Amino acid sequence: MTVGAFADAVEAQRIPALVRLDTNLYALAYRLMKLLPAKHILRQAGAEGLLGAGTTVVETTSGTFGLALAMQCALRAHPLVLVSDPVIDDGLRRRLEDLGARVDIVTEPAAHGGFQTARLDRVAAIRDRLPDTFCPRQYENPANPQSYALAAELLRDHLGQVDCLVGPVGSGGSMCGTARYLREAFPDLVAIGVDTHRSVLFGQRDGHRTLRGLGNSLLPANLDHTQFDEVHWLGAADAYASTRRLHRSRALFTGPTSGAAYQVGSWWARHHPDALTVVVLPDEGHRYQDTVYRDEWLAASGLAVTAPAPAPVTVTDPRAAEKGWSRFAWQRRSLAEATAGGALAGAAS
Ligand SMILES: Cc1ncc(COP(=O)(O)O)c(C=O)c1O
Repeated sequence: MTVGAFADAVEAQRIPALVRLDTNLYALAYRLMKLLPAKHILRQAGAEGLLGAGTTVVETTSGTFGLALAMQCALRAHPLVLVSDPVIDDGLRRRLEDLGARVDIVTEPAAHGGFQTARLDRVAAIRDRLPDTFCPRQYENPANPQSYALAAELLRDHLGQVDCLVGPVGSGGSMCGTARYLREAFPDLVAIGVDTHRSVLFGQRDGHRTLRGLGNSLLPANLDHTQFDEVHWLGAADAYASTRRLHRSRALFTGPTSGAAYQVGSWWARHHPDALTVVVLPDEGHRYQDTVYRDEWLAASGLAVTAPAPAPVTVTDPRAAEKGWSRFAWQRRSLAEATAGGALAGAAS
């Protein structure tokens, strides 16, 4: 394949589709959402003189950002080293290597910060050894949220009005960037972040999480808490059941962070029939075919739920959201403000 054809194929996968799910509910359906920040971060680094021809790109990831970087680095002929941990699935690892990336697996968690810290330490060690490297740092690089100006523009131009945006939060880049740019056109936009229990993003204590792709053990600088009107926490069983429901009822084959966002977005849209809600679907279902889409695996994992929870429980303190589906009125506050409010924080309308 020529470079031009490769570029065209990658570019075609970068632009999301707008899919009508209901009278007042749309999906912003990405094949691979992380292609937006991966491309923009590398371009920006090139413009700032941080990324020359032949510079090795080094990043920590066990998910879709790595896949997007592998495509963008193959396109620009940059060597790529991706540092991951044992959670990485074999299918993804093989795709990364097929695209030319070297995958370096950290086997032991750090005493503080677990695998995430151990992976960051390994990235630093690799960069010390190599003469010319660039680290995209998706958790703190401002080019990550900036790359979502394109998504906001697409929504504005095609829908004319957006009242509510619902999406999963990991680095914070997609939700914070899209909401910020959308509010230039629609200042009253309601932004709802979807997280999972035992993620520190919105004030919970760190711990083991079954639902992957959203949530975090560390607080990313790209998470601007003041963008969020409301936060929801969901567990894996709910997210998986909603992912299957989205597939069965709309033929949309997505990953479980999409299912989590769909569960929250469709609930919000039902309760706000006059508002137009958009739900962010970050990736496709291929990686999850042997788990989320396999009934035997769900049953053996104790995650087989015939129907997701019908409605969230409203909590007045993020730490009270321990299991099930919970919501908290974040009210565009900082983390300190929202969590200090504790029991005083009111529920959203
Ligand atoms: C599948 C999936 N969904 C959602 C997210 C969260 O997106 P963001 O990092 O922009 O907050 C990620 C992040 O890696 C992801 O891989």
